[in-house]
Amino acid sequence: MHETQGFFKTKMDKYHSLFSADSFFRLDNGDDSLFYKKDRFVSHLDSVALATVKKVIAELIVEDHPVILDLMASWDSHIPNGLQPSRVVGLGLNERELKENRALTERVIHDLNKEPILPFPPDTFDAVVNTVSVDYVTKPVEVFREVGRILKPGGLFVVFFSNRFFPEKVVKAWQEAGEEERIILVEEFFTLAGCFDDTSLFVSKGRPRPGNDKYAHLGIPSDPVYAVYGEKKGGDPARKKRPKVNLPFGEKPDPREIEKGKTKVKDTLECPYCGERLKKWLVPDNPFCQTWDNDYMYICFNDQCPYYVRGWDHLCSEGNRGMSYRLMYNPEKDRCHPIPVPSPKALKEGIVEES
Ligand SMILES: C[S@@+](CC[C@H](N)C(=O)[O-])C[C@H]1O[C@@H](n2cnc3c(N)ncnc32)[C@H](O)[C@@H]1O
Repeated sequence: MHETQGFFKTKMDKYHSLFSADSFFRLDNGDDSLFYKKDRFVSHLDSVALATVKKVIAELIVEDHPVILDLMASWDSHIPNGLQPSRVVGLGLNERELKENRALTERVIHDLNKEPILPFPPDTFDAVVNTVSVDYVTKPVEVFREVGRILKPGGLFVVFFSNRFFPEKVVKAWQEAGEEERIILVEEFFTLAGCFDDTSLFVSKGRPRPGNDKYAHLGIPSDPVYAVYGEKKGGDPARKKRPKVNLPFGEKPDPREIEKGKTKVKDTLECPYCGERLKKWLVPDNPFCQTWDNDYMYICFNDQCPYYVRGWDHLCSEGNRGMSYRLMYNPEKDRCHPIPVPSPKALKEGIVEES
């Protein structure tokens, strides 16, 4: 379809209908190079999430000895062992952090918000990786278009993000969006840039937080990892294909053992997937639960249960982003069912009996 026949006459019409004049303002609209002058040799995600970023990069960069740009780089580019790039350029704002980054072969200090151009010739890179930084970009469509210019045809652009950020430097559109909407924002940046084929999405959510993490005592899961990725248009269809990333998590329990466990739930009240005792849960009085006659159910609230942990990947692969399910036992019917949950906290307010 010709663009002018669509609902939006031009990509810029769409841009203006989606974003208001102040969508890309920040609490601190001051010079970014001053903010990033301070060294931050910190990890912006927990170790499980960082390992996930590495694994996704390992899956997606299929080129031999690729030329990579780490866009908005710091001291760690999350380049997996075994990738053997021929060149890794890091573009960022803090010179000392870039100097400490052992993966880099070149370092470029450049403020993308002052000048949304990338100082490289066209068709230079096999892959551009942007990790937990897209939320600080004030002219994202211009920058994405530039990424399209400097990538080789068929080259990969992968944008990773999570739910943590520097509040004073994040743009308003990101700050105000929920996690689901942030995926849509990044997908829109790709679309509006106009130089990429359709994007794909990877989501990793709800994985157990590492026990030695400084926030482990809070009982929150590992930081979520979202990756929206696409290829620059015009790639050679005969070249090696990039896989659709799928990193199933957790041991897959033996199906025969699970079936055996299900027949015993009535007596044991133990989850057939993890063996943990189910918790008595008060059925809420709302229209979604009206089909259940009983007042109580039993639910497995173990955040490490393989049924629940693998559910995030499983539902995402079926198009239900950002959802998992817990195992629920209906004592009236003596049956186990999945009950969907959007977050690790969901349903926990209904627990009436800690077993
Ligand atoms: C949260 S850190 C992420 C660093 C790194 N990508 C990582 O995965 O750890 C954000 C990075 O974006 C870079 N950055 C922020 N604003 C920038 C700008 N206007 N132009 C270029 N780089 C910028 C900073 O140098 C900083 O290292």
